[in-house]
Order: sequence, then C-alpha cells, then structure tokens
Amino acid sequence: MCGIVGYIGEQEPTKILLDGLKELEYRGYDSAGIAIFQNRKFANFKAIGKIVNLEEKIKKSNFSTDANKPSVGIGHTRWATHGKPTELNAHPHLGQYSYVVHNGIIENYKELKEDLIKKGHKFVSQTDTEVIVHLFEYFFNKDKNATKAFKDTIEKLKGAYSILLITQSEPNTIFFIKHGSPLAVAKGLNSEEILFASSDAPLIGIAKDVAYLEDGVYGVAKPDGVVFNTDVNWTTLPSSKQSAQKDGFRYFMEKEIYEQKDVVTDTMIGRMDDEHIIFDELDDKILDGINEIKICACGTSYHAALSASYLFERVAKIRCNVEIASEFRYKQPLLTKDILFVVISQSGETADTLEALKMAKKASLKTLTVCNVDNSSMTRTADFTILTRAGIEKGVASTKAFSTQTVVLWMLSLYFAQLKKNIPQKEIAKNIDILRTIPNSLKVEDSLHEKCRRLSKRYLHGHGFFFIGRDIFFPLALEGALKLKEISYLHAEGYPAGEMKHGPIALADPELFTIALMPEHLYYDKIKSNVEELSARDSTICAISPLDFELADDFIKVEKTKHYMNEFFEMLVVLQLFSMEVSIRLGNDVDMPRNLAKSVTVE
Ligand code: AGP
Repeated sequence: MCGIVGYIGEQEPTKILLDGLKELEYRGYDSAGIAIFQNRKFANFKAIGKIVNLEEKIKKSNFSTDANKPSVGIGHTRWATHGKPTELNAHPHLGQYSYVVHNGIIENYKELKEDLIKKGHKFVSQTDTEVIVHLFEYFFNKDKNATKAFKDTIEKLKGAYSILLITQSEPNTIFFIKHGSPLAVAKGLNSEEILFASSDAPLIGIAKDVAYLEDGVYGVAKPDGVVFNTDVNWTTLPSSKQSAQKDGFRYFMEKEIYEQKDVVTDTMIGRMDDEHIIFDELDDKILDGINEIKICACGTSYHAALSASYLFERVAKIRCNVEIASEFRYKQPLLTKDILFVVISQSGETADTLEALKMAKKASLKTLTVCNVDNSSMTRTADFTILTRAGIEKGVASTKAFSTQTVVLWMLSLYFAQLKKNIPQKEIAKNIDILRTIPNSLKVEDSLHEKCRRLSKRYLHGHGFFFIGRDIFFPLALEGALKLKEISYLHAEGYPAGEMKHGPIALADPELFTIALMPEHLYYDKIKSNVEELSARDSTICAISPLDFELADDFIKVEKTKHYMNEFFEMLVVLQLFSMEVSIRLGNDVDMPRNLAKSVTVE
C-alpha cells in the first residue's frame, strides 16, 4: 500500500514531506522519494529501503529552499506492484517538466505507454505510474492549459489511483485526484497552507480541517485554496496518531479484515478481462512438460494452498498436492521435472518455505511464488512471482494475506485451464463474473460484526473447538481454527466434517463447541447430516450458513449468494471477526499474540 504526501506553503517543505512519509511507514514500503519546486527550480530525491536512506541522500546534496517563499512538494513511499523496488521505479516520476506520485494500479498502463512511446515519450521505469506524467505533458504540450491537461489525463486512466502532480507549467500548484485509493486534503495551521496525505497520520499536529476525498473527486490546490470538481465535507482531524495509523480501528487486525474487500480488488486489477485471466508475470510456456503442481507453505499460507488444491484439480484439471514446508524439507521428497513447484508466503521470508523453494530450485524444477512482499528472499529465488498486492499486513494473525492468496490461486487455476484449453471459455468467463463479486462477499456489514461480537461472550471457555467443513471448506475450517488458537489461546482444531465419526465424535458433549461451515452450494446435505450427528450427541453447535438450521445452538447467517466461493469468503470474514472478538473479550493482545512472530525466519 503506497503512501502519498503533498505540501503547498511557505514553510521548509523537505522536513514536512519527510516527516509525513515517516508517519506513513506503517503502511509498509520498499522505496521512497520527494520532489520539490520553488522559484522555478525543481529538486527530486529517491532512495530504496528506509526513509533514513532518503534523508541521507538529501543531506549529502546540500539542497535547501528559501524560507518564507512559496514552495510546493510531493512525496511517496512505494509498495512495489509493477516493477522491482529500485530508484528508477521509486516515485516521484518525472516527465520533462512535471512530477507525479501515485497510489493504486493503472490497469490500462500498457496501452497508454505504447501509444506515448510512439509519440516520442521516453520511459525509464517499469512502473504503471510513469504513464501519468507523460500523458499530462502530452496534453499540456497540445493545449498549454495545465488544468485541462490534468483533466484530459485522468479521463484516460482506468484502475485505482490517487495522484498528486506538480509541474513547472503551473508553479505553486498541486493537481490531484482520488479514485480507489485513499487521499485526504487539509488546511494547514498557517494561512495559505494546503497539505495532502494518504491517511490523516501525517496531518495531525500540522493541519486543522481535513476532507477525506471520495472517489472521483479531483481538483487544483494553490496557496490561496483548493478548487474541487464537486462539494467536499471538511471535518476536524483526530488528535491521536496511533488511532490514525489504524484508520480509527481498534487493532491492525480489525483494519486488515475490513480492508479485504479493497485489497482483493487490487489483487485482480489488470489481471482479467471479461473472458480471460491475464498474468503478465508468467509466460504461457509455464506448463510445458508439467503434469503436477506441488505447493509448499506454512500456517495460513498452507491453508490457502490446500484451498487452491481443490481448484487446481477441479478447474485446471492438473494433479495438485500440498505439503507443510517444515515436513517437506526433511522427507527426502521425490522431485521430478514434471512438477511445477509453488510456494505461498505473505512475508516471503519464512525459513521452512524458503528452504523448500531452494530444494526445488536445486532439483531444477520450475518454481513460482505467490507472495505479498516484492524483493523478499522468495521473490528473488523463484523463477516466477505473483504479488498478492495486499499491502502491509501488521496483525500477526494473517487475514488479508489469506484472502488475496486464495483469489490469486483461484485465478491461477483458471489461467492454467486457459493454457491447457481444458475448460470452455464460457466457463472461464463465468468464473470471472464470480471473481468480480468477491470484494462484495468480503465486505463487513456492521450487523454481522455486531452478531460475532455478541456471540463471542458464549465461547470463552469449554474444552475445545472443532471447526468443521467439507471440500474447500475444510481448509477454511483449518484457517478458522488457527485464527482462534493464535489470538485467543483456546484450543481449536479444524477437521473434515466427514471424518468426525472416525474418532473425534467421542469428544461430543455440551462443552465441545463445533463451528460448522454449511455452504448452500457445496454438499449442504452432507455437512448437514454430519452436524446433526454431533448435535444428537449434545455437542454445542454454532452453524455458519445462508440457510436456516434449526439444530444449531447458535447461528450466524451469511448472505445467500450464487456460488460456493462467495460463501467461502463470507464465512472467512465471520471466522476472522469471531476469533478477534473472543480474543478481545479475553483481554489478549490481538495484534501481537504471545509467543508468535509475524515472520518465522528461523526453523
Ligand atoms: C497466520 O495467522 C500466522 N501468523 C502464521 O501461520 C503464518 O501464516 C505463517 O507463519 C506463514 O507465514 P508466511 O505466509 O509469511 O510464509
């Protein structure tokens, strides 16, 4: 998730921009940069790694601005989605006389870039963002009207984008738009000061009123004020920076559960049209000579891998097996070159998963990583990388990592089916239609969250939880059990519903809590009879389903939908919220549970 800051005023802009970027570090980034314009002179600094590297660079340059003179500046922290974390790919991006910073994904950047290159524009980066500044200058060179050029530019863009653009053609001015990615504009404490930021954290203490822009709001900011294309609501900035980093949520985990509908939208941007899945990161020969997919991962990523195995076999008709990395690395596995070896990891640094990847590389297998962090050990090691674009995940308990991984793997199963031509194109188009509805399935309704919160008070003890599901809902049950375990410290296990009668049902009694995942569109009658067997033996049942189920002691109703994958993601949100609310009631540290680390980089 990139971070954006902007400033117009007469204070020294460099410090304001750098301090602002530091307040956005919590969003995660791999490079940073600023551009400043004063008295017709531009300065631009970029650095990979932490902001301290950028500060060093600016210090060494002896750059300074004149005090009490109007200046304008923009800054950016980059979370790589297109192009490696390098200085060239860092923002701001420069045209001939303009700079731009951008948060989001320009879905149609390839065709725009090709057209601009034909018109003589020179590109230096691999990013989608760079097209914005060249498009602006193309239009300005035609009409010599900066406001019109900016409007013509944004009308050409597709995707998600919040943009700040400064240009020599219009001094002391910031052109901006908010569309899909967050952007706030604020009035400085001094008159004739305007500030921008991706969230309010950088604004607290240096600004008073703020407007959190809605999609489609754009305009022109100058020292004497901001002109918008529509009315905006001004409000007072919150006082606490800590709550600002969490965007007002109580925990990063809560924020990240609510973010899922947005980040999953980013995950899909530019990777499908109405009838095709598109992975520019892969080549269409990736399946040549391949008869099997082997996936290795740990923890939540392992659960995403298990979910994927159902889709790879059902949709792509490719044999798929899944291994826990810590087991795989010592079992002397049979590795043959007809295996496509896939590792899944949020951090890209998990020691066991990385070692498994290295073993596959050593055996000369084709390797692919599905990862959330570019430039991580796994993305640097694998032959192919697909980034999940979830943005930084600060909660130790993975949430949006799982949902974005599962969406990527579902898309990958369709992409492989496309390559093998083993399902009709209309089937792929139907899946794409369903994929487009997944963000809505991940939307957290207040009523649902309140239901999970109220219910959680009844599940604070007991001698254990069974989370049960069938088919792809079995790995979801495993994920639900892991969420509860790792943040409430209550014992829970995920189990295949059909397997309960082979032993675990001996545990059934009122103190045994069974969380039953009962989707309408996948073996409902089977799961229903499994749950009835448990209920008949007096186990306490909490059913999650779109269909009423009278035998449940507790019941969480999810929306009726058309497909089991909608139900999968709806139930995922319930499991995440339920675990979080139990943990809160028990007084645990939701974001940093005991004994756990966000990335297990040791064995
Ligand atoms: C998930 O909630 C846990 N924090 C943990 O199981 C995690 O999924 C596992 O350590 C794998 O991490 P990775 O995805 O970064 O490889």
